[in-house]
Amino acid sequence: MRTQEIYNLALQMGIDADFRGREGVDRLLKRRKEKYEKLSEEEKAEFDLESLTNPYSDTRILNVAQDKEIKKVLAGIDIEPAEILLAKELGDIDLIISHHPMGRALANLHEVMELQCDVLNQYGVPINIAEGLMRPRIDEVARGVNARNHQRTIDTAKILGFNLMCCHTATDNLAAKFLKEKVEQKNGELMRLEDLLSLLKSIPEYQESAKVSVGPKIFVGDPERRCGKIALTELTGGTEGSPKLYEKMAQAGIGTVLGMHVSEEHKKEAEQANINVVIAGHMSSDSIGVNLFLDELEKKGIEIVPCSGLIRVSRVRP
Ligand SMILES: [Fe+2]
Repeated sequence: MRTQEIYNLALQMGIDADFRGREGVDRLLKRRKEKYEKLSEEEKAEFDLESLTNPYSDTRILNVAQDKEIKKVLAGIDIEPAEILLAKELGDIDLIISHHPMGRALANLHEVMELQCDVLNQYGVPINIAEGLMRPRIDEVARGVNARNHQRTIDTAKILGFNLMCCHTATDNLAAKFLKEKVEQKNGELMRLEDLLSLLKSIPEYQESAKVSVGPKIFVGDPERRCGKIALTELTGGTEGSPKLYEKMAQAGIGTVLGMHVSEEHKKEAEQANINVVIAGHMSSDSIGVNLFLDELEKKGIEIVPCSGLIRVSRVRP
């Protein structure tokens, strides 16, 4: 496989696992194309053409130094210049894959957050409320990433001649779908937070993270409390949504939010709304999605070297 084929596979897998369904993604791409066609020539020149076929602004090929058959991949949660130097030191790396976005993929991270509105809507939050509360938060994220040194790692990859891509929401979708299926098989009226923790701790990535003290934890609620309806609203779709949503989620009948991470502000709002919050863990949850994607590369004979926080668990190797 070449870099472009690996990227295409990531997109296809991400779309297949997308909570909006393939039809929902197709509708979004169709609407983007209609909007693009109405732009002026000047606006079209700045437009990210890739976004007409790729629904995930935070998943991109960032550098192709050599278009060759990929035999060995260095994959990590955050790729920075240190990891590019690591690849050089290793000597035989054909492609570097980062989970977290950089370059244009980081600058446009906020665009994938619209996914959260649809997911909230699926859990019963009216779409007008989800969109109304998410909009200021999406704008805040856009401003927040604007000043970052977006090209730093890409510049290093260019100088040292490495192929580089990032794959964020495409693989977060895989983790979200994987966890949703596990949780929904078990979620019932009697399920308590301690049962949810045990369920999470049966997953190898969380067993590994627990060994270094960042296993699944209850951030709001206590082990004896019932979960009620468990919502996976925060596992994919860029980054944390609006803190004002917890009250609306409670009104929509959600009892427990299962997420990757939670800020103090969000935690306070969840407490106020009597919503339990179970945090599965950040690097570990990111790893689940990345692993499910890397397994497909492994099946094609590509060797994987995990780095930078990636807890590599292969589900294809015995
Ligand atoms: Fe992440």
